[in-house]
Amino acid sequence: MRFLVLGENGQLGWELQRALAPLGPVLALDRRQCDLADPRRLPAVLRRFPADVLLNAAAYNDVDLAESEPDLARTVNAEAPGVLAAYARDAGQVLIHYSTDYVFDGDLRRPYTEADRPHPLSVYGRTKLEGEEAVQKAEGAHLILRTSWLYSVRRSSFVTRVLEWSRNRPEVRIAEDQVGTPTWCRTLAQATVHVLSQGEGLRERLGRRSGVYHVACAGAASRWEWACEILRCDPKRSEQRVGPDSIQRAQSREFHTPAARPAFSALASTLFQLQFGFSLPPWQEALRAAMQGD
Ligand SMILES: NC(=O)c1ccc[n+]([C@@H]2O[C@H](COP(=O)([O-])OP(=O)(O)OC[C@H]3O[C@@H](n4cnc5c(N)ncnc54)[C@H](OP(=O)(O)O)[C@@H]3O)[C@@H](O)[C@H]2O)c1
Repeated sequence: MRFLVLGENGQLGWELQRALAPLGPVLALDRRQCDLADPRRLPAVLRRFPADVLLNAAAYNDVDLAESEPDLARTVNAEAPGVLAAYARDAGQVLIHYSTDYVFDGDLRRPYTEADRPHPLSVYGRTKLEGEEAVQKAEGAHLILRTSWLYSVRRSSFVTRVLEWSRNRPEVRIAEDQVGTPTWCRTLAQATVHVLSQGEGLRERLGRRSGVYHVACAGAASRWEWACEILRCDPKRSEQRVGPDSIQRAQSREFHTPAARPAFSALASTLFQLQFGFSLPPWQEALRAAMQGD
């Protein structure tokens, strides 16, 4: 099987390349080679890179900036995935597309399942939901994997920012009124590989199971709890000015961000476990592995 990954340098794109390599040749394209902001050119670009599976790990991900760039966010997150899905269908490819917990409004206060009705609060969430709809509308063999609070330790993320603040700020304040599921991008890449490595007839098998699946680490945490755990797992604790026991609890409204975020967006990944026989570890376990540089 040949794989084509979009979003070469992103958190997930990078991990996908590593994780897919044992299954077959992997080619990855960055924004310069394949610009999702120019959807009309995508089929011509993709034709140059034949593959059996197309993985779209690229997205307009700046949740706050999207509020002032809604057209660009919509082109990258909604229009382009629709073009990718139509291309993949016509080329006989399987499309793996990723989406977000921010399609939900957070009012439910229990982990969201695929049966729960999306109601995004932000431009980012709305455009990602439109992207899901565009992929489904093409009716090709596809999986839409919705994940939550994705992080890596090699590209700027909440984890790297908390570590940096703990070393350089006299005080660190983190919201305790946002709850989600921190998910290490390596575990999401491993879940993807598990699905793709299940033998012959992939397209037919995934075609029958096409749709949206929640794929996140197990459990849930507030941003404050997550930040405390990050500092507890920090291998360079001696460099911290602010330690895990002295992070201040804050409320989201203090930060005056342009985009609203769901107060509770933990995802239940039970359907994915049942369909594909793979569970992601508890978020604390994944965080420990990520921080140890596994
Ligand atoms: N990060 C999260 O907390 C989170 C949570 C839930 C779901 N997700 C979803 O998970 C997926 C992977 O996210 P991630 O965290 O790995 O993202 P990321 O690290 O921000 O990487 C996004 C990638 O998309 C590329 N990109 C942005 N605009 C592009 C364009 N116009 N054309 C082509 N490429 C473009 C970026 O290129 P550059 O390297 O040039 O910037 C980058 O490589 C996305 O679908 C995202 O919506 C993320």
